[in-house]
Amino acid sequence: MDFKKRILCIGAGYVGGPTMAVMASKCPGYKVTVVDINEDKINRWNSKNLPIFEPGLNEIVKKTKGVNLFFSADIPTNIREADIIFVSVNTPTKTFGHGAGMASDLQYWEKTANQIIEYSLNSKIIVERSTLPVKTAQAMERILKSKSNGLHFEVISNPEFLAEGTAIKDLLEPDRVLIGSHQTESGLKAAQEIVDIYSHWVPRGKIITTNLWSSELSKLVANAFLAQRVSSINSISPLCEKADADISEISFAIGSDSRIGSKFLNASLGFGGSCFKKDILNLVYIARSYGLFEVADYWEMVVKINEYQKERFVRTIIETMFNTVVDKKIAMFGFAFKANTTDTRESPGIHIAKKLIEEKALLSITDPKALENAKIDLAGIDRTVVYEPDPYKATEDASAIVLITEWEIFKTLDYESILKRMKKPPFIFDGRNILNHSKLFDIGFNVYAVGKPPLNHFD
Ligand code: NAD
Ligand code: UGA
Repeated sequence: MDFKKRILCIGAGYVGGPTMAVMASKCPGYKVTVVDINEDKINRWNSKNLPIFEPGLNEIVKKTKGVNLFFSADIPTNIREADIIFVSVNTPTKTFGHGAGMASDLQYWEKTANQIIEYSLNSKIIVERSTLPVKTAQAMERILKSKSNGLHFEVISNPEFLAEGTAIKDLLEPDRVLIGSHQTESGLKAAQEIVDIYSHWVPRGKIITTNLWSSELSKLVANAFLAQRVSSINSISPLCEKADADISEISFAIGSDSRIGSKFLNASLGFGGSCFKKDILNLVYIARSYGLFEVADYWEMVVKINEYQKERFVRTIIETMFNTVVDKKIAMFGFAFKANTTDTRESPGIHIAKKLIEEKALLSITDPKALENAKIDLAGIDRTVVYEPDPYKATEDASAIVLITEWEIFKTLDYESILKRMKKPPFIFDGRNILNHSKLFDIGFNVYAVGKPPLNHFD
């Protein structure tokens, strides 16, 4: 089949895979190929057992794979053939040298730029899809111009706003698509090509075009604002616990003000995920490097409150269980950083599990999708951990249940039958405020939630 254009995506991860599957399904005239340095990942994309779980992803990949969507480990050939290259490689926090623990590690990004100049034989549009520090496009352009072979690479910023667990829905019906370019003739022409792709399924009014730097910075700011809301509500939760107020009632009361809005106000044991912490730390690092210390300190508090919230949650568990969890079996309900994903990156569950293991508790972790990743996260320190797909077995002889992830299944379990098999007194620590606390209390549990007065049978 003759394709109108050949799109390549470098990086077949959580962003690259789903994004390109949706693009291929909506743009049958384009050939879409996804490459990765990780051959195992490519093999899994080419199998029935995809490397990531997202509701609706299997169906879309099944329809498009081999038609106009291809996964390949052959990076040189695919770079050579592409007209437009989306780059969705990982940009983790730097763990070494200058800026360690704060700045973005751009090694994968730079390698990609070098691969592009090494293998390209024609001019191309390069689209930044990864989340990057503002002004990265400038560095990218400098690398791409360093080999004087007469080719022109126009760099466009098109950050991704999908959330895991709802990736396909977010991609099919985005709140907006953001496309940033240089305001030059070639920049605007390249931006228009990307607008044309999205216009296949996104209403034109939802496609926002800006200058390059606004687009790059908007992505970091969007994540910072979202995380800030979670930290803001979480910062009020200890006050509720002291003052006998209820954080869910407060979320509802304040969220009913249309200026505040009701979303992202669920108090929790802390936010996780691969991006919030890294993107805010990156924003903090950039602000500091421009000498904007007050700006940096302001945003850094969002991360500090999150660390405090995780720490506070573990402290509540230990103090409530009579200041010792030694040899006590604790069932952890969930390990993914949120529901409907296998992803455990930066999950609060990792921190809580490590702290409880340090305190010599015996953990039984249950999660409908994330047990494989949990094993990897706790490798080497997990001698006292069992991984149990069945939540009923996970709670047998347990002294406490610690709810980490808001999976639907945890709401519908038969807690009376669970209680019978647990040690007494039985505790539940609901890190997501999703369970029916008064009912659990009535059947005999001692219930501790986030930002709510405890319900216990001791007084
Ligand atoms: P990921 O780790 O799941 O995937 C990145 C992939 O890039 C990996 O498979 C890796 O092997 C591959 N890769 C690295 N260097 C390569 C190279 N030189 N050539 C070919 N492949 C290479 O990461 P992700 O979660 O998809 O995130 C990618 C980017 O998108 C990050 O900047 C992230 O901040 C951003 N982002 C992520 C999400 C999310 O929900 N995960 C949402 C929006 C934006
Ligand atoms: C987040 C953003 O929502 C996406 O727009 C963005 O594209 C993405 O980061 C990214 O750049 O990687 P994601 O991390 O997948 O998406 O998930 P969220 O739904 O934002 O949740 C993040 C964390 O905050 C989770 O641990 C979640 O449980 C927690 N959270 C969220 C709360 O504790 N309370 C809330 O009210 C909402």
